[in-house]
Amino acid sequence: MVIAVDGPAASGKGTIARALAAHFGLPHMDTGSLYRAVGLAVLRAGGDPADAALAAKCARMLDVTALDDPALRESATARAASVISAHPEVRAALLECQRGFARQPGGAVLDGRDIGTVIAPDADIKIFVTASLEVRARRRQAETPERDLAVVHANLAERDARDSGRDAAPLRQAEDAILLDTSAMDREAAIARAIALAEARLAEKTALR
Ligand code: CDP
Repeated sequence: MVIAVDGPAASGKGTIARALAAHFGLPHMDTGSLYRAVGLAVLRAGGDPADAALAAKCARMLDVTALDDPALRESATARAASVISAHPEVRAALLECQRGFARQPGGAVLDGRDIGTVIAPDADIKIFVTASLEVRARRRQAETPERDLAVVHANLAERDARDSGRDAAPLRQAEDAILLDTSAMDREAAIARAIALAEARLAEKTALR
């Protein structure tokens, strides 16, 4: 069973993907951390994330087993990730590792921007998690309270526009994805709703077989 969870920044997709993985006993991959690691590698090399050749080189050299650097969560890294992820060469370099993870026996849960559309278009369950920009900005600020809400809001809006507007695998809801708007939900409610939606979709699929 493959579960694809997509959505914009701070929508709650990571929390939901982890909860679905625990519920169904499946391995989970946070694909955003791959793009963040490439963005961080470019910054640490003193390069410009807009440099497609350098970003692609960093993507090809990426050690996917070392994605626990706390600097991956910084907003400068998120910004760099959003810039390097628009380069088709970078996406191509990261494709096989994600497809391989999705294809493993027993299945997997992956979260990102293009899981239901590009990485695993045949996923059994696709959930597109979203929330209003205001709610997402407040959530992200709560994770890093020292930052100004207006700055967090502006950073997210910039990243939303770049992720949705790019030509290569833009952020969009797959036609067969279930929409889950978590704007008015707390963490527990969003998780409970996602599990209920996934179980219902699974029951539907089983009945059709
Ligand atoms: O955690 P948050 O939602 O803020 O971001 P993330 O999922 O870690 O992703 C960081 C950036 O990587 C995004 O802004 C996207 O530009 C890019 N990304 C992507 O292009 N495709 C994916 N499958 C996952 C992330």
